[in-house]
Amino acid sequence: MIEHTRSHQQPRRIGLLTAGGDCQALNPALRALTLGACVTHDWEVYGFKDGYLGLQEGRFKRLTPAHVAGIQGIGGTILGTGRGQSGSVGSIDEAVERCREVYDDLGLSTLICLGGDGTQRFARRLHEQAGLNIITLPKTIDNDIRGTDVTFGFDTATHIAAEAIDRLHTTASSHHRVMLLEVMGRNAGWLAAASALAGGADVALLPEIPYRLDRVVDAVKDDVSRGRSYSIVVIAEGAVSEERAATGAPVRLHSAAMELVEQLPELAAAEVRLTSLGHVMRGGSPTSTDRILASQLGARAIELAEAEVYGVMVSVQGAELKPVPLTEVGGEPRSVPLDHPLITSLRAIGTALGN
Ligand code: F6P
Repeated sequence: MIEHTRSHQQPRRIGLLTAGGDCQALNPALRALTLGACVTHDWEVYGFKDGYLGLQEGRFKRLTPAHVAGIQGIGGTILGTGRGQSGSVGSIDEAVERCREVYDDLGLSTLICLGGDGTQRFARRLHEQAGLNIITLPKTIDNDIRGTDVTFGFDTATHIAAEAIDRLHTTASSHHRVMLLEVMGRNAGWLAAASALAGGADVALLPEIPYRLDRVVDAVKDDVSRGRSYSIVVIAEGAVSEERAATGAPVRLHSAAMELVEQLPELAAAEVRLTSLGHVMRGGSPTSTDRILASQLGARAIELAEAEVYGVMVSVQGAELKPVPLTEVGGEPRSVPLDHPLITSLRAIGTALGN
């Protein structure tokens, strides 16, 4: 049973949790946070299980350097994660209050939350409404969190998609087929754009650029300019046609992939096959790039905790790791700007973007 009140000799207690959809490099981040707290500052670290639900329910485990030894190359999160905040209690306000009770009972001085937009929004409530000392780290394979240039998980997911495209080139070439590859990214096309460029796709369809079916057909049929008799089309799960976008209807995930796999065979007079990577993009060992980014963010968060800078998300801004007020994050997903080098480069080398 944990002693409920902190004597002045007791070391600081830091809470950690991972929430929302998982991604690669959560474990390197947890490793850096735990080592920074325990080794550099001799603080105690308490890891809550399964995101905010574990915090509310008081489900945690002590994390020591021994618990995080060697986890930098392991996908997923040793704490588990979960979506949503009000799980076992009723309203969001009740969930906030329950989190505060557990935080106070455990004698925490800081809570560090790793997550996407939803996690950032609830973290802000814990800070503003319940007065908890909160620091967050941004994470998602989608790379669409406002307030930071990049999130860990994105590089690994892009690598997985690019490897898949490499494999699709050989089988598409053998059969002279059109290969559709659906990638994750429900609100933003960072993954679709990056993997299309890395994998040499002929077409990339992003949520940011509603596509015209006839333009996709033309691009797919344009063997001559491509110099080969097959094509690769990368489709973000949140991509939409101009027609559907014009209705203002909510985005239906996978609608683009479904439309193309049904309509392209006749319109392009070609054999068409669809591969949807789905959660494969979320799994497995993180790349070194993501491990480095996650470790740097974790180390920076411990520095901010030492300086008692709270109510912030540790962000990447150029070459710097800066605290951004939680009031400035957690809003609309960060779309790929149409003048971003990913998009301008795709256009410059003749990749069709469907418009
Ligand atoms: O937010 C990351 C993400 O992987 C999205 O790309 C995807 O649409 C969503 O999570 C899937 O959510 P879940 O894991 O809850 O099915």
